[in-house]
Amino acid sequence: MKKHLYINGRWKEAASYTELASPFTGEVIAHVAQAGEADTDEAIQAAKAASVVMASMPAHRRSAILEKAAALLEARKEEMARILALEAAKPIKTARGEIARTIQTYKFAAMEASRIHGETVPLDAAPGGEGRIAFTMRKPIGVVGAITPFNFPFNLVAHKVGPAIAAGNTVVLKPASQTPLSALALADLFAEAGLPEGALNIIPGKGSIVGEKLVRDPRIAAITFTGSPEVGIAMKNKAGLKRVTLELGSNSGLIIDETADITQELIDRCVLGAFSFSGQVCISIQRIFVHAAKFDEFAVRFKEATEKLVIGDPFDDRTDLSAMISNKEAARMQQWVDSAVAQGAVVLTGGKEVSSGVFPPTVLTNVPSQEPVSCQEVFGPLVALSSFDHLDEAIDAVNDSRYGLQAGIYTRDIQSAMRAAERLEVGGVMINDFPTFRVDNMPYGGVKESGFGREGIRYAVEEMTELKLISIKL
Ligand code: SIN
Repeated sequence: MKKHLYINGRWKEAASYTELASPFTGEVIAHVAQAGEADTDEAIQAAKAASVVMASMPAHRRSAILEKAAALLEARKEEMARILALEAAKPIKTARGEIARTIQTYKFAAMEASRIHGETVPLDAAPGGEGRIAFTMRKPIGVVGAITPFNFPFNLVAHKVGPAIAAGNTVVLKPASQTPLSALALADLFAEAGLPEGALNIIPGKGSIVGEKLVRDPRIAAITFTGSPEVGIAMKNKAGLKRVTLELGSNSGLIIDETADITQELIDRCVLGAFSFSGQVCISIQRIFVHAAKFDEFAVRFKEATEKLVIGDPFDDRTDLSAMISNKEAARMQQWVDSAVAQGAVVLTGGKEVSSGVFPPTVLTNVPSQEPVSCQEVFGPLVALSSFDHLDEAIDAVNDSRYGLQAGIYTRDIQSAMRAAERLEVGGVMINDFPTFRVDNMPYGGVKESGFGREGIRYAVEEMTELKLISIKL
């Protein structure tokens, strides 16, 4: 199967194609076009031309297109979930969950399209400002360059394409090289929904060619990127005056304090938060800090629940974890676990690659804080457990990180909850839930090397619009 570039509402052959293999079977599943410099230029030009059409499209029309796209996705949801299972080895039940979220994300975008508004500004609060009526408007920013990761190939694309269209912008999308099929599946869907030609261009290709051009080209007004801090920081440094939104991952921490009940729900939530899609989630739980009084009970029950997870074929309904996105990632996991063990970490369960590319859910204790499995983003099925005596010690440990995306605390004490809410250096604190919690209308983004700017449709619309002041002198 050959997959072409999607530029200006048409499929276009490229000069080169690469093989795309299933992470689980290793079989070639498609030959995917690789955009070159000239293709990227053409896509940007198409998006620039269409930005005039989109900027003058009424809000009700943009909203209707997004609603229709959501409805078309709903009608084809099983087919889309199977694309995810095929190209990302996302277990089918997790993939169905992602498609359900994606539909909601486009619906939120449809709603948001019809409520983008400004506010009146009391200029007479300043001497010299009397005798005027002033208000703000939000104007589309223009062409948005979207660069998306492999881990949520539908929903993280929706978090970029949805608000861009809602705000009256156009998009050049470079999907992750491991998961281009999900993004390319959107092309026909949006065309059928009535999106004008050129408003959405999808061009798989290399970061060094496509990504580089999107970041440097002056016709692109904003970049929205989800990926690694190294790539994100390099982009920001090259982007000049472009708006840049960066969502760059984390080594998320969860605190379980001495007042928390170790319920089955808490254990299940921790297992889900740590191992869903093999931990290849930016807000996956990587570090759990349990009060010493509860540590042994938690560790035993968490290990038991982890060992019940089913590893296997992503198309099997029973599967909880399948292959990681590549053999290289599983090999890196093995190296990091071995390094931690050599420094004194204890493996409670897992710890050895089970077959090529498949890493089991792994729980470690006694991990020195400078080990990669603790201080880097693991992005794999691994959790390090530690105990603490005082809440501030646990908060300091969560904060002892380059990252700050989301954190969680289980407690029955409002003082502890509020202390954690105040002190945790993250973009979102989940009280009595895991740091992995996300619904698609909430502000989502981080501090420190987790990036800046926020997703969550309304917040992304703010990033993708220009605020304009109108002052009328009476
Ligand atoms: C991410 O990995 O950044 C997204 C997590 C989510 O949307 O649940």
